[in-house]
Amino acid sequence: MSKVQIFIGSVYGGAEQVGELVGEELRKLGHDVSLNTYARAEDLARDPDEIILLCHSNTGSGELPDNIQPLYLHLTRDYPRIAGRRYGVINLADSSYMSFNEGGKALDAAFADLGAIRVGEPLVIDACSGDDPATLARDWVNEWARLI
Ligand SMILES: Cc1cc2nc3c(=O)[nH]c(=O)nc-3n(C[C@H](O)[C@H](O)[C@H](O)COP(=O)(O)O)c2cc1C
Repeated sequence: MSKVQIFIGSVYGGAEQVGELVGEELRKLGHDVSLNTYARAEDLARDPDEIILLCHSNTGSGELPDNIQPLYLHLTRDYPRIAGRRYGVINLADSSYMSFNEGGKALDAAFADLGAIRVGEPLVIDACSGDDPATLARDWVNEWARLI
C-alpha cells in the first residue's frame, strides 16, 4: 500500500472529476489517498514518502489553472528538496490549441528538474479526441498503480 496525494488543478471541474475518480480507484486497490485542490509548499513537504499524482488541465495559452499555479511557482522559485520523490501525471488538454498541454509539460519538467522521478508515462486526455476521460483515467490509473 502506498500513500498518494493527488494535486488537482482545474478551471471547469473536468480535472477535478478525473482526480476524484482515480482517487477512488486507488483506494479500491488499498492505497491511502488524499485529494488536494489547492496545493501549497507545506502539502508537498508534509510526507516525503507520499507519492504525488498531478491531475490538472491547461488554460489560457498553455497556462496552469489558478489552483495549481502556486505549486509551480514554489517549485521554480524556492527549489524545494524533492529529489527522488515519485510522482505521476494526468493532464487534461485540447489539441486544437497551439499551446497543447504546455502547462502540463512545464509542471512535469519542474518536478523532473528538481530530481523527482516520474512513475510511468503521463496520461494526456485530449478533449478533441472524443475519448471518454473516465475510461481513459480508469485504465491508466490501474496500470499506474502496478508501478507504485
Ligand atoms: C479558455 C480555455 C483555454 C484553454 N487553453 C488550453 C491550452 O492552452 N492548451 C491546452 O492543451 N488546452 C487548453 N484548454 C483546454 C482545457 O485544458 C480542457 O478543455 C480541459 O478538459 C479543461 O479541464 P477543466 O474542466 O479541469 O478546466 C483550454 C480551455 C479553455 C476553456
